[in-house]
Amino acid sequence: MAELAVNVDHVATLRQARGIDYPDPVAAAVAAEIAGADAIVVHLREDRRHIQERDVRLLRQIVQSKLILEMAATSEMLGIALDILPHTVTLVPEKREELTTEGGLDLVTHQDIIREAISTLKNAGIKVCIFIDPDLDQIKIAHKIDADMIEIHTGAFCDAATETEARREFSRIVDAAKIGTKLKLGVNAGHGICYNTIKAFEGLREIREFSIGHSIVARAVLVGMDQAVRDMKQLVKAL
Ligand code: PXP
Repeated sequence: MAELAVNVDHVATLRQARGIDYPDPVAAAVAAEIAGADAIVVHLREDRRHIQERDVRLLRQIVQSKLILEMAATSEMLGIALDILPHTVTLVPEKREELTTEGGLDLVTHQDIIREAISTLKNAGIKVCIFIDPDLDQIKIAHKIDADMIEIHTGAFCDAATETEARREFSRIVDAAKIGTKLKLGVNAGHGICYNTIKAFEGLREIREFSIGHSIVARAVLVGMDQAVRDMKQLVKAL
């Protein structure tokens, strides 16, 4: 059965909107775990727009399942990861001006930096996942540079404007998941997945973990974190 990793970044977005100390993403993580989350994900961005270093440190102490830290492969972030030692680091590209992570890492261009980051993190006992587009060349490089896992970027599928586009993007995800598995990489998926788009993954057993944030936090605003996570967990279980 695939696992559900719940990203609580946008609980912190709400907090930062007022510059006060609530709602707390750490409390949201506890609620998410009680509701069945298999992992908690946070993205510590260079500009600290939502998650703060304090959140990651507290989560490291409090999370009972797995703490997954999304970060860029910068020396600042590597230093923080080596100090906090999350269960997994997912390396993502990062631009200050983007609204959210806009694409996968380009390993063709950045493979040397990423290879070095993978080696540094793995030597400290941290599992390393690489966020990439569903692209054969990227997956082959992820394998070559010794990543433990890939997270396939599902944004182009989830945001597709037409059925045809959605079908085309989904078939790229299917191919990527199968190739990744063949290369013995752990295969995860995430970005833009909501309570409707998750259903498309039925039967795609290669995907071991779904990383989902915005849609869960958005539903939590209306029905509470517990219900929002339980609803998504049930959909993931049914895949
Ligand atoms: N996976 C990665 C690598 C991401 O950067 C994000 C967004 O922070 C997600 C998953 C979750 O995306 P969403 O918030 O759209 O569910």
